[in-house]
Amino acid sequence: MSCPCCTPPPSEYRRFFNRRVAGLEERRYRKRGLPATARGLARLAGDVTGATVLDVGGGIGTLSLELLERGAARATTVELSGGYEDAAAELLAEHELADRVERRIGDFVEQAGLVEPHDIVVLHRVVCCYPDADALVARAAEHTRARLLLTYPRERALTRLGIRALNVWLRLTGCGFRTYVHPVAGIVAAAERAGLRLERRAPQGALWENAAFVRAG
Ligand SMILES: C[S@@+](CC[C@H](N)C(=O)[O-])C[C@H]1O[C@@H](n2cnc3c(N)ncnc32)[C@H](O)[C@@H]1O
Repeated sequence: MSCPCCTPPPSEYRRFFNRRVAGLEERRYRKRGLPATARGLARLAGDVTGATVLDVGGGIGTLSLELLERGAARATTVELSGGYEDAAAELLAEHELADRVERRIGDFVEQAGLVEPHDIVVLHRVVCCYPDADALVARAAEHTRARLLLTYPRERALTRLGIRALNVWLRLTGCGFRTYVHPVAGIVAAAERAGLRLERRAPQGALWENAAFVRAG
């Protein structure tokens, strides 16, 4: 749990997730496609034909792009950093998908009231970038009509060490952005309180875990 005053301002997200990072992500995607964790989430999405997708913290938007190519109808991305927009626009134009994607800049927790529910909500490596996991997962779950898909760091000594080292480096470089290993039990509880049922947890190598929740009943 954390309070609004613990959340770094958007400028710190933009400072870290900047145009250079977006360019690296774009090049990586062009060369190798989605990372294994995102491919796993796409599989957990199942049949997406005609579905609407909400990609929270979607970066350059490659996961929603792939889901659109697999038959999803529309996608909305809500992203705290404005640094991804040029790369995202380039990819969307190339794939001729710009008219099926809405990109919003802002903190999804704060903007949630302005975003309509979607069939599928995805957060690929986002929970680890936000201090208040409870609020982020709760808002995401409330916006899910059918399926909520998450990738977050596994609760292991190795991930805690990596995150701590990254945070030390961020502090030394004067960046206010921080990363977190949030308790999985808290993530599950936040989704369940919003009426979702945990369908599957799937470890992805040593560092990450994918999880799928479905709307109960
Ligand atoms: C590690 S990046 C992952 C980007 C993308 N999901 C991917 O896998 O390529 C995490 C992203 O989440 C965004 N983010 C974190 N908390 C957010 C929030 N509350 N609302 C919107 N975006 C958020 C950050 O700005 C950052 O771009």
